[in-house]
Amino acid sequence: MNQHFQVTGLQRGKTRFPRYDEAALGFENYWYPVMLSKELKQGKPKALTLFGERIMFYRDQGRVFALHDRCPHRGIPLSKGTQVFPKTWSCIYHGWTFDLKTGKVVAALTDGPDSKVCGNAHVRVYPVEERIGLVWIYNGKNTPPPVEEDIPSEILRKDAAMMWRFTERPGDWRYGAENGFDDGHGKFLHRASWFATFMQLPGWIQSKMELDHEGWLVRKPTKVDFEGEFPRLGKWPKVHWWKSKRVLSTPSIKLPCVLRVELGKYMHFEWYVPTQAGHHRYVQLLVKHTNAFNRLFLRLRYWAYIRWIFHVSFNNEDAWMVELTNTPPEQLYRPDLSIIEWRKMCENARGTKPSDHEIEVRDDFSREEFTKATQA
Ligand code: FES
Ligand SMILES: [Fe+2]
Repeated sequence: MNQHFQVTGLQRGKTRFPRYDEAALGFENYWYPVMLSKELKQGKPKALTLFGERIMFYRDQGRVFALHDRCPHRGIPLSKGTQVFPKTWSCIYHGWTFDLKTGKVVAALTDGPDSKVCGNAHVRVYPVEERIGLVWIYNGKNTPPPVEEDIPSEILRKDAAMMWRFTERPGDWRYGAENGFDDGHGKFLHRASWFATFMQLPGWIQSKMELDHEGWLVRKPTKVDFEGEFPRLGKWPKVHWWKSKRVLSTPSIKLPCVLRVELGKYMHFEWYVPTQAGHHRYVQLLVKHTNAFNRLFLRLRYWAYIRWIFHVSFNNEDAWMVELTNTPPEQLYRPDLSIIEWRKMCENARGTKPSDHEIEVRDDFSREEFTKATQA
C-alpha cells in the first residue's frame, strides 16, 4: 500500500481497509460526471485533471471525445493542438495526428504520408457519454457498463429539474465522501448556518445503515435527541421554540463517490470526483421533480437565494473541514458508524471479487490503544 494515500486507521502502514486506502485517485470501472455539456463548445478543447491524469475533452461533429492530454512524441499537451482533418486531432508541435475515437496516430504530418509512426503510436482514449445535459467519463480500461448504471435514477426522470454547481476543492475525495455521510458534524458545524435558520437541528442521533436495491447505503435514524443535560456542564444545545423539529434530511451514499440527501420535496446530490491526490472536483446538484412551469420558478429561486445559502455558504463549511481533515491517526466515535459502513462498502467496489473475509470493524477504540498507536 502507498502509505501516503492512506486515510483510515490508527497509524500509517496498518489498515483494515486496504482497497479504500489505496484509492486516492478513485475507483476504476465507474462512470463519473465531468462538466455541463454546454461548457464543451464545438471545436474548443477543454483540459481537466481527473484520476491523476490530464485529460482533453473535445466535441467533434456534436460528439464528445476524451484523450490523454499528452502527445507521446515529446509530451506536449494535446489540448494545445488543432484540427486539420475531420474526426482527428493534431498535436501543435510536429503535427502528429490522432484518430479521436481510437487514439491511434493516423498521420505524422511532418514525416510524410509514408511515416512509420502511423499505427505504431497512440494515446489513451476514455469512454464518454452525454446524459441529462452532462458529460460523463468512464474511468476504466474494460468495456463499460451502460452509463445509466452510475446515474441516480431520480435524475434520469423526465420531470427532474436540476441546478448544478462545479468547483475544484482541496482535500482528498474520501474526506469529502466521509464528511458527506458523517452523522455527527451536521449537528455542530452547521448549527449556526443560514440554511438552518428555521430548523431545530437535533443534538445527536443514533442511526442504522441499510443497503437499498439500487446500491445506496442509507442512514436511518433510530433515536433522535434535541437536547440533553451534560453532567457538570449544563444543557446543550439551545432549543428555539420557533424552529421546526422535523428531521428533514435522509442521507445515502453510493459508489463510486456520490451522496444523496433527501430534503422533503427536494433532493441534493454531490459527487467527489478525484482529480489528483488530495484534491477533487466537487459536483453539487439540487433536484426537484416538478412540471415545466414550476421548473422556471425554481430556477429563479435557486439563483436568487438557494444557491448562496445552500450550495455556497452551507457547503463551504463542509469544504473547510474537508480541506483540514488530516488522518491517520484517527479515533472514531459512535456516530462514525456511518463512515465505517461506507468504507466496508468500498472494499467491495467494482474491479475485484468481493473479499471473502469479514472485515473486522469496531466503532470505538480504547484510550490506551489510541495513545500507544499515536506515540509509537
Ligand atoms: S510533441 Fe506532439 S508531435 Fe511532436
Ligand atoms: Fe455538512
